[in-house]
Amino acid sequence: MRLIVATHNSKKLRELERILAPLGIEPVTGEMAGIPLDEVEETGTTFEENAFLKAEAACRQTGLPAVADDSGLAVDALDGRPGVYSARYAGEGASDADRICKLLTELEGVPEERRTARFVCAVCCVFPDGRTVTARGECPGVIGAEPRGNDGFGYDPIFVVEGGRTYAELTAAEKDAISHRGNALRQFAARLAEHLE
Ligand code: IMP
Repeated sequence: MRLIVATHNSKKLRELERILAPLGIEPVTGEMAGIPLDEVEETGTTFEENAFLKAEAACRQTGLPAVADDSGLAVDALDGRPGVYSARYAGEGASDADRICKLLTELEGVPEERRTARFVCAVCCVFPDGRTVTARGECPGVIGAEPRGNDGFGYDPIFVVEGGRTYAELTAAEKDAISHRGNALRQFAARLAEHLE
């Protein structure tokens, strides 16, 4: 089944393709479908709300079922920040490196045992008749003392998972097997299959 996917992030799209293809779902961007998607303001206060806002806008614009993911990093020592504001954490126009630098600065002096965090991903699919299918996935970890690894994107180089490597030091398959996005999408695919029965 083909689903319009509401993302402008090519690395996130690659993860979505990797995880969804074996589950029988082919994500297609607005550009690929010939309908470039408008930018959507993420005004929600939860991951679920923002995933819905992006998927609903893409479905309305294309007239096709559309799926979106909204994700972010919740750091315990920062009372769950940056959370839903992970993309805007270092301001408009900031880079992944700027966001990592800001987070490491905020956590300066915080010992390893208090640097616990989790990545969260909410997935929402909206159908033209208004029905929705949603799922949520999480992955626990610790914020490392400095960036490590060259793969992945976003906060991957400072998110240390069980076993001691960062997301950016895992192979794609290793990340997908444990990641917040992998967990959310596997659950989503199962719910979608039930929904389509
Ligand atoms: P959004 O879901 O596209 O709004 O992303 C929120 C923020 O979290 C962005 O800064 C992303 O780079 C970051 N992010 C989302 N997923 C991941 C991931 O799998 N690894 C690292 N950073 C991520």
